[in-house]
Amino acid sequence: MSAFPLHFGKYLLLRPLAKGGMGEIYMAGLGQIGGFEKLCVIKKVLAEKADPSKAKRFLDEAKVVLRLSHSALVNTFDAGEVEGEFYIAMEMVEGKDLREVWNQCVRQRQRIPIEVALHVAREVARVLAYVHGYGDLKLVHRDIAPPNILLGYNGDVKLTDFGLARSALKEEKTQPGVVFGRAAYLAPEQARGEEADGRTDVYTLAIVLWELLTGQQYLPISGLDPSAGLALVRHPKPTPPSIRAPWIAPELDRVVLRALAPDRQQRFQSAEEFRLALSDVIAKVAPRTDPARVVELMQAVFQDVINKERAEREHLLKDVIPAFRASSSAPPARERPTQPSVAHDKPRSASQSNRTPARTVHATPKPPGPREENHDGSDGMRLPGVTPVPVAVDGRAAHREAALRVLAELAAEDAAPTPSPVQARK
Ligand SMILES: Nc1ncnc2c1ncn2[C@@H]1O[C@H](COP(=O)(O)OP(=O)(O)O)[C@@H](O)[C@H]1O
Ligand SMILES: [Mg+2]
Repeated sequence: MSAFPLHFGKYLLLRPLAKGGMGEIYMAGLGQIGGFEKLCVIKKVLAEKADPSKAKRFLDEAKVVLRLSHSALVNTFDAGEVEGEFYIAMEMVEGKDLREVWNQCVRQRQRIPIEVALHVAREVARVLAYVHGYGDLKLVHRDIAPPNILLGYNGDVKLTDFGLARSALKEEKTQPGVVFGRAAYLAPEQARGEEADGRTDVYTLAIVLWELLTGQQYLPISGLDPSAGLALVRHPKPTPPSIRAPWIAPELDRVVLRALAPDRQQRFQSAEEFRLALSDVIAKVAPRTDPARVVELMQAVFQDVINKERAEREHLLKDVIPAFRASSSAPPARERPTQPSVAHDKPRSASQSNRTPARTVHATPKPPGPREENHDGSDGMRLPGVTPVPVAVDGRAAHREAALRVLAELAAEDAAPTPSPVQARK
């Protein structure tokens, strides 16, 4: 029998969607009255990884993303804590992330149309311009890569996963020597341990665009030893996409190369500049670029999947959730706000044990394909001088204690903000 559905605060967890570096991702149900349920996505901190720095990163992420609203951003509408586990709740995108799209295209020997590549890049540039210019926060995504770009079956392009975002809101010091993010999608300045800025996101978006245009990996580091890989990431020799895809026009080559300049002074100085350059080149070389091209591609490569997923959603909404609600008599576990005032909590009773998800949730299997990165974005390569963040595995009590420590720290920080660490984040 499936371990799902499970009560989780005001949500019902329906099944795991993915498991990555920062948290477990679930498809979830929201609603109380039969027939008025809505599906959404819950992202939780991994219990075994809830050491203070991880939990704090998660809360930092939640604080930031709750404020943002843009049509090319996965909308996050709630964040909180249930029995010591932090979560954010967001809209569910009916579609696939760009890595899955890429892999599916490879399996079906389909080329990603140039219009789709350009539309995705322009949409991500558009949302980056919004994010970078949001208030005075100096938000940077820092993890622009295929798994964090979702393509809707309806043609939407949506950026997600601010797990590695840093802004003026964030005073968290990362461990010295830690390089977050996937090595193949790091800008040279990130690989040197320098502070990321908006131009860093421009660069990594340009890598994604280069790869969509050519169907090849921009920096083939998978087979290299770590120090050679790191050297390549730090000192890339930019190649125009037309070397691999001769049909690419020189003006598009120029735009991509400018965004890929290793020295950020030589790049587009903002995502908006990049977007405008893309718009100009689209008008010349691919004027039929629009969301309909994304719909066509998604329908062509995911035809069966789309129907299966639609049937699954219907089944969940019409059968599974109502039956579960009818059969579960006790009220759901009470949700608490993320406040430090929850220090004295009773230990979980046996009767509550069916109200939180099983501790071990199996990840959805990684689809086979050319991309070798792990789900968390690491490509399996340990960079020299890179220390993994230590992980506390002391069970629920330690998790809770760590969570509360972080909340207290955050409250103190809110009262007296500390200055940004002078040391460049590594
Ligand atoms: N709102 C969403 N709708 C649909 N799929 C999602 C959503 N959020 C995440 N996913 C899927 O889960 C994966 C991991 O989510 P992400 O937020 O990137 O977490 P991680 O920190 O593990 O990278 C994504 O690559 C995507 O495939
Ligand atoms: Mg991600």
